[in-house]
Amino acid sequence: MPADAESTFDVVILGGGSGGYACAFRAAQLGLSVALVEKDKLGGTCLHVGCIPTKALLHAAEVADSARESSTFGVKATFESVDMSGVNAYKDGVVSRLYKGLQGLAKAHRIEMVEGEGRLVGPKTVEVAGRRVTGRNVVLATGSYAKSLPGLEIGGRVMTSEQALQLQDVPARVVVLGGGVIGVEFASVFRSFGSEVTIVEALPRLVAAEDEAISKQLERSFRKRKIAFKTGARFDGATQSGDTVTVSLEGGERIEADLLLVAVGRGPVTDGLGYEEAGVRVDRGFVIADERCRTGVDGVYAVGDIVPGLQLAHRGFAQGVFVAEDIAGLEPAPIDEMGIPRVTYCDPEIASVGLTEAQAREKHAEVETYEYNLGGNGKSQILQTQGFVKLVREKDGPVVGVHMIGARMGEQIGEAQLIYNWEALPSDVAGLVHAHPTQNEALGEAHLALAGKPLHAHA
Ligand code: NAI
Repeated sequence: MPADAESTFDVVILGGGSGGYACAFRAAQLGLSVALVEKDKLGGTCLHVGCIPTKALLHAAEVADSARESSTFGVKATFESVDMSGVNAYKDGVVSRLYKGLQGLAKAHRIEMVEGEGRLVGPKTVEVAGRRVTGRNVVLATGSYAKSLPGLEIGGRVMTSEQALQLQDVPARVVVLGGGVIGVEFASVFRSFGSEVTIVEALPRLVAAEDEAISKQLERSFRKRKIAFKTGARFDGATQSGDTVTVSLEGGERIEADLLLVAVGRGPVTDGLGYEEAGVRVDRGFVIADERCRTGVDGVYAVGDIVPGLQLAHRGFAQGVFVAEDIAGLEPAPIDEMGIPRVTYCDPEIASVGLTEAQAREKHAEVETYEYNLGGNGKSQILQTQGFVKLVREKDGPVVGVHMIGARMGEQIGEAQLIYNWEALPSDVAGLVHAHPTQNEALGEAHLALAGKPLHAHA
């Protein structure tokens, strides 16, 4: 028995980010007593230094582009400049409103917030600033951090996304190391704000986890936006002197910039937290959990970015809710990782769910694909955006992948994920009426075409 009986809960959660707080809220709704241990701010990476502030920057970027390109629409406006203090005030305002709301929800759910850095001191006990909190169940949800490369120290003009969210001025020249999700989103923001941008990516294409056709279209759009990128380029080193940072690539090329943004992935925060000592299996820093988020130690679960897989807030939410329901005995169905929607909010936006064409060809004997060009979509033409909706289906079977690119196409992921997760046939979707003129129509048109009855497309 712990000395302080009040410190025993049905669920103790280590980490108050997307995975941790979702688990806490759902567990409380189900009548369980919950302690949530957080060393920084409730909401974690997503709310404070990830999804929310970066999307605010991307929205400010869109506003800057709209002003700059207003004459395309016959509107006379002059783009003057980007005032970073104004941008930051807007961004921070969004974050703080959501943060207040989240704190209110935690209070309403009567969750015991335990402030401080927690550490497992037994499989079911977390120690926080000398206090021991014990759970009949423990959920590990300590999230991730922005990684760097060996020999590349973060500081000064070398930043991760976290520091880049606090810039006071728009840098004139930026090198973005890594052409993954964070890399292309920040490249997009900086370009819209007026910076000269060069992306350095080791793999042969930008957003290499996406379908190849998406990478090609993004690269085409980035070229048009004058965002430079070097793919298949290996980083060798960076030196800072005075006002510049010089980035060297293997092969000898050097690029000078005012800022180097390092976006080479996020690593799990698990070091020194007592996980392995408690018997939890850890591999290269990640906690190994099964499809029910169980770690192998009875009553100890793991959710979110510390578990190998997509490092996305909504995956964390889903896993957190799943674990709470599992603990409450509701026997929830495991989450299909391929059914988790993915959106990258650069301009043009990328949205996908399910298998890429290459993955589908590995899995299924025969595969059919169809690409509906946004050139035929009225609303996309009104917005003056280019892109497409690409469908991948198992021959004579359901749609197994949806891949979309174009301004605002992220908003179309809702229907796409229903199509994938409900294993819809193209003919099922073709039978549904899509509103005109919307970009959503492009999704409907792609299914009409794949079902053999194209409308605004050639057969
Ligand atoms: P990432 O894994 O998406 O991309 C990292 C990129 O860096 C890869 O393309 C990799 O090939 C490249 N790279 C690694 N070492 C390199 C080197 N030495 N030289 C050149 N290139 C190198 O990771 P990223 O962009 O840092 O994002 C981290 C996580 O955060 C991702 O899992 C992502 O899903 C998540 N995230 C999601 C967002 C969204 O859903 N919109 C937004 C931002 C982040």
